[in-house]
Amino acid sequence: MRLRLVARADDENLPGFEPGAHVDIMTPSGLIRQYSLCGSADDTSAYEVCIKHDNATSRGGSASLCTQVSPGMELQISSPRNAFTLPEARRYSLVAGGIGITPLLPMLLRLQRNNAEWELHYYTREPEQAPFADMLRNSSYQEHVHFRRSLREGYPDCLNIPSPDTAIMLCGPDGFMNAVSSHAVAAGWRAEQIHTEYFRPAESSHSLMDQPFEVVLARSGQTIRVQAGQSIASALLAAGIEIDLACEQGMCGACIVPLLAGVGDHRDVVLTQEEQGGHIALCCSRSRTPSLTLDL
Ligand code: FES
Repeated sequence: MRLRLVARADDENLPGFEPGAHVDIMTPSGLIRQYSLCGSADDTSAYEVCIKHDNATSRGGSASLCTQVSPGMELQISSPRNAFTLPEARRYSLVAGGIGITPLLPMLLRLQRNNAEWELHYYTREPEQAPFADMLRNSSYQEHVHFRRSLREGYPDCLNIPSPDTAIMLCGPDGFMNAVSSHAVAAGWRAEQIHTEYFRPAESSHSLMDQPFEVVLARSGQTIRVQAGQSIASALLAAGIEIDLACEQGMCGACIVPLLAGVGDHRDVVLTQEEQGGHIALCCSRSRTPSLTLDL
């Protein structure tokens, strides 16, 4: 289902966003879900999101949007946030698996407008009926778009030979992204060239037992104990400290704050390796040192 969201006051524009951004939507079921903005980033008269109605995997949020939302209804959404921005590069290879096409659409519109060099590889079981397939096929940039049914038909040719000034923008189900990333890395691409957007938290691979630790709030000088099994966010909230939270699963970036000292045990899928040195997600990450100092 494709939703077009406008501000409550008709003539008002919505906050601007960059390609790759998502919003949180409070679904009628009460669950908050993240959806990539799939319309042009140059049009702030409305946000467009596309929702896959999948009874088998939906935990209720998407299903309630697909079945309980009707035209004219009011929905509460967050401002756009972006954990999947287009980096500077000479060339761009966009690779989508199924509904992972959504954040890549504003990217290709922006790249096309900027006369950048880009190509899209869209893997979808039904290329004839896939979301946005008609639009892509009938566009002025159709020669940049390549459809395939599955990775069994092969990886994008452009990934076979590494190119130092190309960025790979990858979005789709976890298994699909893992397979494409591994293929690219094995072909000689550097991991930093592969930019991904996960829609669900990545499988946790950390082996550290949850130990208690302290967080020091640099601005107030307060020290707060985080118990084993408690998140930094809940320890801060219990101490009456206001913080931003949305997904609480390490996926949206709402709770990220600057980390001034200590080493984080990062469990989010938002921060890049580079950013992890100076930031931490309060909802899910822990500490590898007895204490973390936060810019709060
Ligand atoms: S609240 Fe979404 S990453 Fe922490």
